Amino acid sequence: MLRRLHPDQPGSFAFTPANQAWAEAQITKYPEGRQASAIIPLLWRAQEQEGWLTRAAIEHVATMLGMAYIRALEVATFYFMFQLQPVGSVANIQICGTTSCMICGAEDLIRVCKEKISPKPHTLSADGKFTWEEVECLGACTNAPMAQIGKDYYEDLTAEGFAKMLDDMAAGKVPVPGPQNGRFASEPLGGPTTLKDYTGEAQNGSVALATRIGDTLKRIDGTEVPLVTPWQGVAAPKPPKGKAKEAKPAENLPVDSTGVSKQEAPATSTAKPEAVAKGAEIGTKPEMLVQAKGAADDLKKIKGVGPKLESLLNSMGVFHFWQVASWGADEVAWVDENLEGFKGRVSRDDWVAQAKILATGGETEFSKR
Ligand code: FES
Repeated sequence: MLRRLHPDQPGSFAFTPANQAWAEAQITKYPEGRQASAIIPLLWRAQEQEGWLTRAAIEHVATMLGMAYIRALEVATFYFMFQLQPVGSVANIQICGTTSCMICGAEDLIRVCKEKISPKPHTLSADGKFTWEEVECLGACTNAPMAQIGKDYYEDLTAEGFAKMLDDMAAGKVPVPGPQNGRFASEPLGGPTTLKDYTGEAQNGSVALATRIGDTLKRIDGTEVPLVTPWQGVAAPKPPKGKAKEAKPAENLPVDSTGVSKQEAPATSTAKPEAVAKGAEIGTKPEMLVQAKGAADDLKKIKGVGPKLESLLNSMGVFHFWQVASWGADEVAWVDENLEGFKGRVSRDDWVAQAKILATGGETEFSKR
């Protein structure tokens, strides 16, 4: 997947005073000349504050660390933990789509996301509360299928249970993380075969801790216990009592002549969750050909298209680079959804950008090989 900066960016970024003090303290952990080592915690803090990582935030952090912007951008675009587009105000749902989860029902969970959130990943739901994305293995394969939501894992999911979970979250509740089928942890589904005399607690350690901390879905908003910097000899402050939410310095600042950025405007998604019932058409079917016009193009020159996919495309009526090059977002969504066995490949490998080059007689890095 291409990771690029969102086209609609706020004009500025600043840490809240508390976050600024914390960020400056982080830098002191590293020897002189090695301040860049603090980049990941600082970018993460910026994301926690704003919900996603804006260009202004990346540049602000780069400036704090004395780094070239491009170096900070490389880090932000490399790690999937950094969200480069606005995310739902309640949660960004990360569905594991790797082998174990895929075998055990990840596609059913993705269907729920498409129905309830948006037909396309990284797109705000109509109410602005949720976004979703498919991610690689999150290391909880024994409890497949699973999703990371906020700071915690929800495991052993079913489509029905997951759909209800989203409803609960939308209503302001925070479902208890961990296995959702009654398992304690990752013991066999039929029950433990060793350590059978262990009675244990009602919840495993991770779930108990998540429940106790209670910040599964919550992002930093200035009301949390102040972060401590013990290596500077600063004592842990007492938790604030009834502290008001700390305003974000860049909040509500006009971005451009329109006065407001799209991500600050009320969420309006093209998604119509109620209309996207199971089996309903997603996107717009592109114009297909009955047969090639002259000689068909070698679609295998598009990175991600092999012989099998090429013949599937031909059977659908796609023979030429110019056809693929003409697809807009809606057409890409339709083809992505209808490539049986290869769903999501068009956007994953950005076929349209490749086809635009190939259609004009150019070569891509891949097609030159
Ligand atoms: S395959 Fe889903 S957590 Fe590993």
